[in-house]
Amino acid sequence: MASLYERLGGLEPIASVVDSFVARCASDGRINRKFERTDVPRLKKMLVDQVCEATGGPCTYTGRGMRPTHDGMAVTAGEFDALVEDLVLTLGEFDVPRAEQQELLGLLAPMRGDIVEVESPETGTPLPRTYETAHAVH
Ligand code: HEM
Repeated sequence: MASLYERLGGLEPIASVVDSFVARCASDGRINRKFERTDVPRLKKMLVDQVCEATGGPCTYTGRGMRPTHDGMAVTAGEFDALVEDLVLTLGEFDVPRAEQQELLGLLAPMRGDIVEVESPETGTPLPRTYETAHAVH
């Protein structure tokens, strides 16, 4: 069977989905406080590389690991679920079929333990001032 990367249509469609997904997150009051200090071009590049590599595409993810990235961000379970919901809505908007959506979510689900720090349904919580954001990419 073709790789998930191929079935998603390759790099261009993946980059379009990431663009739209990041915009949706940025306008979602349940999670956007976490992204207040984020370098958005870096975030988009890292997400594209991560998804491309994880789905069998020809990219190499060069960003930080999921635990060190999200460590000290105080992400709640409710915020994780909100982000996944935004991703599913974005994939639907791009007519990604259910099977491919499920496969992608299946690749991301195991990362939950490295990302969620607060097992609470609360959303809209701030990014702790002590969190150090990553450097911009050039
Ligand atoms: C499975 C779910 C998730 C995946 C795969 C994921 C993946 C990533 C990746 C690849 C980066 C870039 C790392 C780098 O720049 O080195 C990143 C950064 C970030 N993530 Fe996530 N993430 C997830 C969930 C979340 C959630 C639920 C939140 C908060 C609601 C969140 C907030 C952030 C923020 C704020 C940054 C930017 C950090 C900075 O400015 O340095 N992420 N994430």
